[in-house]
Amino acid sequence: MSHQLHDISNFAMDLALRAGELIVRERRDAQFEQRYKSGDELVTSTDLKVDELIRKQITRNYPDHQILSEESSPNLAVDQLKGPLWVVDPIDGTVNYAYGHNQVAVSIAYVEDGVAQIGIVHAPFLHETFHAIRGETSVLNHKRIKPTEATELPRALIATGFPYTKDESGVLARRVTQVLSHCRDIRRLGSAALDICFVACGRLDGYYETVSPWDLAAAKLIAREAGASIAYLEAPPAEVSEDLYAKDVVICTPGIESALIQILRNATHSPA
Ligand code: IPD
Ligand code: CA
Ligand code: CA
Repeated sequence: MSHQLHDISNFAMDLALRAGELIVRERRDAQFEQRYKSGDELVTSTDLKVDELIRKQITRNYPDHQILSEESSPNLAVDQLKGPLWVVDPIDGTVNYAYGHNQVAVSIAYVEDGVAQIGIVHAPFLHETFHAIRGETSVLNHKRIKPTEATELPRALIATGFPYTKDESGVLARRVTQVLSHCRDIRRLGSAALDICFVACGRLDGYYETVSPWDLAAAKLIAREAGASIAYLEAPPAEVSEDLYAKDVVICTPGIESALIQILRNATHSPA
């Protein structure tokens, strides 16, 4: 790893830990407020504070880098995604946060020319920090991680999630029905970043969902470097960076990849 990347990795880790402290403090002191962004999508004052903390620090240390962050800059132009880019979800698991659940993470990825170089998913209530560096390692609290060795769907534990908008609930329900009837069981943990990291470290056998780039940029690198398979129900368009592509993503242990994709595709195309 270059010196520069090493420094960026240390900076990102320090930032994730500071963000985690803020996330815990605001909930412990009952400091946070809740409101709705659009429709029924919840956002808390902590999401906004963490976004601001991360943005300020990145801008101060790397003024020429771009930031794609859920709360303050979710819509960058294609050109801005080239070059050095930070992809940030200040709180992944906002609903969990608001309800007092602990599956909550801050997710920070550093990407160069569309390729994720560093991924950190820090879950402050769980005291767990996932960290990956492209081409090197994937660790949980400094220990190397790997996916399960599952090869059979009936013994596979699968996670998924659902969007805030309900317009695709028909196809999502068909997929859940198929997964329930072919797999061991299903989990809905409420944080896509943690779902993916849990596949990476063997707490789940697979995960599928459509999310946004900030939900998965860091976790996908963590999963890939740990040895998980990453696939899509439909191939990403050529002009999109695969590391930021978030539609119909399937991340799983390699032994169940083709069977899981098959049942999800069948469910997608079966009559309602
Ligand atoms: C959400 C979580 C959830 C997933 C949603 C995401 P947020 O992120 O990752 O698990 O199912 O699609 O939007 O809103 O808590 O940052
Ligand atoms: Ca999220
Ligand atoms: Ca979020």
